[in-house]
Amino acid sequence: MTGAQTEAQAEAQQRRAGVADLFDQLAPLYDQSGVPWFGPIAQRLVALVGPQPGEHALDIGAGRGAATFPLREAVGATGHVTAVDLSPAMVGLLEREALERGVAGIYAIVGEAGPATLGAERFDVVTASLVLFFDPDAESTLRGWFELLRPRTGRLGITSFAGIDEHWAAAEAALLAHAPAGALDPRTTGTRGPFASSEALESLFRACGASQVETVVEPLLVTFPDAAAWRAWTMGFGLRQFWASVPESALPGVLAEIELALDGDRGDDGQLHLTQQVRYTTARAA
Ligand SMILES: C[S@@+](CC[C@H](N)C(=O)[O-])C[C@H]1O[C@@H](n2cnc3c(N)ncnc32)[C@H](O)[C@@H]1O
Repeated sequence: MTGAQTEAQAEAQQRRAGVADLFDQLAPLYDQSGVPWFGPIAQRLVALVGPQPGEHALDIGAGRGAATFPLREAVGATGHVTAVDLSPAMVGLLEREALERGVAGIYAIVGEAGPATLGAERFDVVTASLVLFFDPDAESTLRGWFELLRPRTGRLGITSFAGIDEHWAAAEAALLAHAPAGALDPRTTGTRGPFASSEALESLFRACGASQVETVVEPLLVTFPDAAAWRAWTMGFGLRQFWASVPESALPGVLAEIELALDGDRGDDGQLHLTQQVRYTTARAA
């Protein structure tokens, strides 16, 4: 192993530790705003990979279980579901929710999806909703995920963000203007590399040995009464970190800019209408 490789690996390790820390902090508020967001995206992903009764499913970067619970329902009593996440807080909250909902048969693990955490098990279905774009080395991570599938029959599906409408983009630009370089945000990493287009992501899948790669891009519409509600919603996921980067003195100006940007899309119903295009990429193991 060369010195350069060791340095790159150490950097990747550090970045993953940063992801775990970020989501440990976000976990208590994560997806708790009541705005349908992670749920519909994960449910659509699960429908596209089509888990069958009796199958073994793995949800990577499970968070609080947006895809884990639909997977559990789909594989039924004779199947089983493993959920894995880097963040101990997310895993703890997922386990608590499973207990509260009375859902048995979810095996939740803290860590990365690989032989160290999962042993030699091979899965029929693997999902990772809004996860891979956080990874410092998406290609080797995705290759590792494909190795977790049963050969030929195993299916893997991920979601990532495609475009947002112009009003939303302007609001985010006002917020992200104060972001530190290299911040962990999928929309800042999404403008280049494998997440920049469906074609680029499909190429990455093929480079990892996938077959039957398919992309579906669909809009997800969300509505808010005003910019303050939008801000409250962003506190429940990754965008929250950027509010902390806005200096106190700049906050009124940033809020005014966001309000102006979002108001451009107020509908006849008086609500702000924002549209996120969501990319679903699915494939089979070779
Ligand atoms: C945006 S959240 C998505 C959570 C869930 N899938 C959902 O749709 O609500 C990303 C999650 O992926 C986890 N994560 C990021 N990279 C990971 C990796 N390489 N292995 C396991 N978990 C990862 C984070 O800790 C975080 O909980």
